Amino acid sequence: MSEKRRILVTSALPYANGSIHLGHLLEHIQTDIWTRFQRLRGNECYSVCADDAHGTPVMLKAQELGITPEEMVARTRAEHHQDLIDFHVDYDNYYVTHSPENKAFCEEIYSRLDNAGYISKRVINQLFDPEKEMFLPDRFVKGTCPSCGAEDQNGDSCDVCGATYSPTEVKNPRSVVSGATPVLRESEHFFFDLPKFEDMLKTWIRSGALQEEMANKLQEWFTEGLQQWDISRDAPYFGFEIPGAPNKFFYVWVDAPVGYMASFKNFCDQNSLEFDDFWKADSTAELYHFIGKDITYFHCLFWPAMLEGAGYRKPTGVNIHGFVTVNGAKMSKSRGTFIKGRTYLDHLNPEYLRYYFASKLSDGVTDIDLNFTDFAQKVNSDLVGKVVNIASRCASFITKRFDGKLSDNVIEPELIAEFQNAADGIAEQFEKRRYHQAIREIMALADKANQFIDNNAPWVTIKDESKQQFTHDVCSLGINMFRLLTIYLKPVLPILAEKAESFLNDEFNWASLQTVLTGHAINKFKPMMQRVDMEKIDAMIDDSKESLAPQQPAIAPDSPLAQDPISDTISFEDFAKIDLRIARIANAEHVEKADKLLRLELDLGGETKQVFAGIKSAYAPEALIGKHTVMVANLAPRKMRFGLSEGMVLAAGPGGDDLYILEPHEGAKPGMRVK
Ligand code: MSP
Ligand code: ZN
Repeated sequence: MSEKRRILVTSALPYANGSIHLGHLLEHIQTDIWTRFQRLRGNECYSVCADDAHGTPVMLKAQELGITPEEMVARTRAEHHQDLIDFHVDYDNYYVTHSPENKAFCEEIYSRLDNAGYISKRVINQLFDPEKEMFLPDRFVKGTCPSCGAEDQNGDSCDVCGATYSPTEVKNPRSVVSGATPVLRESEHFFFDLPKFEDMLKTWIRSGALQEEMANKLQEWFTEGLQQWDISRDAPYFGFEIPGAPNKFFYVWVDAPVGYMASFKNFCDQNSLEFDDFWKADSTAELYHFIGKDITYFHCLFWPAMLEGAGYRKPTGVNIHGFVTVNGAKMSKSRGTFIKGRTYLDHLNPEYLRYYFASKLSDGVTDIDLNFTDFAQKVNSDLVGKVVNIASRCASFITKRFDGKLSDNVIEPELIAEFQNAADGIAEQFEKRRYHQAIREIMALADKANQFIDNNAPWVTIKDESKQQFTHDVCSLGINMFRLLTIYLKPVLPILAEKAESFLNDEFNWASLQTVLTGHAINKFKPMMQRVDMEKIDAMIDDSKESLAPQQPAIAPDSPLAQDPISDTISFEDFAKIDLRIARIANAEHVEKADKLLRLELDLGGETKQVFAGIKSAYAPEALIGKHTVMVANLAPRKMRFGLSEGMVLAAGPGGDDLYILEPHEGAKPGMRVK
């Protein structure tokens, strides 16, 4: 192996106002596998993280709970850290951004940027909550979309028409904090001169620091033009005050990445390590940030520019991952798929999740679907059925018949050599974060090991006195193959590897791959991993539904209301806008190339409308013709790939084949208004 590398790794700092969930865990597990891999290889690799303590949401949440933000952050940090430890995510330091080290670094970086002329001041107009006496971040303003008129939209974008705008353009704005009507107020803000760093950033993003697809994405941002970055917020704000500017605070996204440095500094001071070796401008150590795609802008534009402007080194790499979806959809509180780390741990083994994520993680930014059927199947067949099974098939013979000792003889040296020769390829896959490839290669070896045992059937030869040496050799080779597989899997499955180490009286590192155990005493085999039980997955999903809807009255778990709670109230005027009519289904037919849609012709007693309805999995078209139903007659027509859809029919149910079209009582005539 080449010279020992010095590496510092970070994961994005979770906000201190919510729990760690399975989405966060993708990132922590991705980082942890990479870190453990580097350590296994013998590199000097440190990893740090922290809670992101500052900002308006944290401040308001603490107020809601009636405690100080410091107290809330301390509690959350401890909870987050314990969750991560229980998933075997092993940070050298898990700190918090509300720390003396972080304050000192922020002040230093700010003053360096200011001295170098990168900070300017300008008065801006911002919405202000006169009741709460605070300026409102965009997401704390709601109102009517200036573009389409939809009510109750966010302060910066509309979910209905997709428009984006400034919160000052919102019609009938109200403060989410107090309900008051915000007023425009002037305030002086501090700005960081990002455009000055354009050339440096353009070079940096093509330096190999980013995945190609992300580098291309950033290129678009350059084309749109870089803007001055607003780095100050007015009191009241939970954060660090800007030196020499009373009542002005650093925006949370200034001190959050600096928190990487602060967490590492705190670690260095306790472990006599030189901070500067890793952070000075000409450092030869490597620095990697693991983040989700939503925070690319902060890590790939602002952060390197801040570092450069303040005379520090820039990241060697920013490793960006996609988002976790569960069972094919965005994590949802009502479906019970918004799963907290702790809820998972109450039901399932953390190594299942580590393995599953590893088997899906690539070096790209595509989203990763956690499908629980696939999850159970993969863990059961790969880990329990293939890997652990190798040891359990061979171990008892060694213990009972061969004195607990492996044979002195290596019966098929080419087979073992094949396992060993895979090392460089697997190492490269881990190094490049193509964990799914690493897992694929490791499992191909596991298949070979099982084939070898099947072909030689030690459970048959053990009965033949003349074949004792052969049986001993076969089982010993099986155990050695199991050993090599668990060394490869150690970054992903540290606890399984630990169990294998104590079973084999061994300690694994990457160099151990080049040895074979001969004449070596092993211990009695104990089961190492249980199969995934689908019932536990169901229980976890049920628990996730409960834990997130505590304020609601008890609803029977099998009630549709438990899956799909009643929405916020709307005014009578809003309701009256919907023109519901009785319609006769004059015709219904399949739509070519559409797997969900039927084309309906709806007779309104004088007018016919065409509607494409997503009811194909519940109804055969013939069954619908002639029936009466209810339609939304004044829905704006929508152009679809197959034609114009001029309304909507009403149906109940979650979807798929569990869907029921509404039908009026006898006597209702086409065209009658439903009110
Ligand atoms: N506090 C900021 C990060 C500051 S770093 C200097 C933040 N916090 S977060 O809690 O919202 O997110 C932390 C990390 O988790 C981010 O990298 C984010 O992309 C990631 N994820 C949050 N939800 C996720 C999924 N559903 N799936 C995958 N990653 C997700 O942003
Ligand atoms: Zn709109």
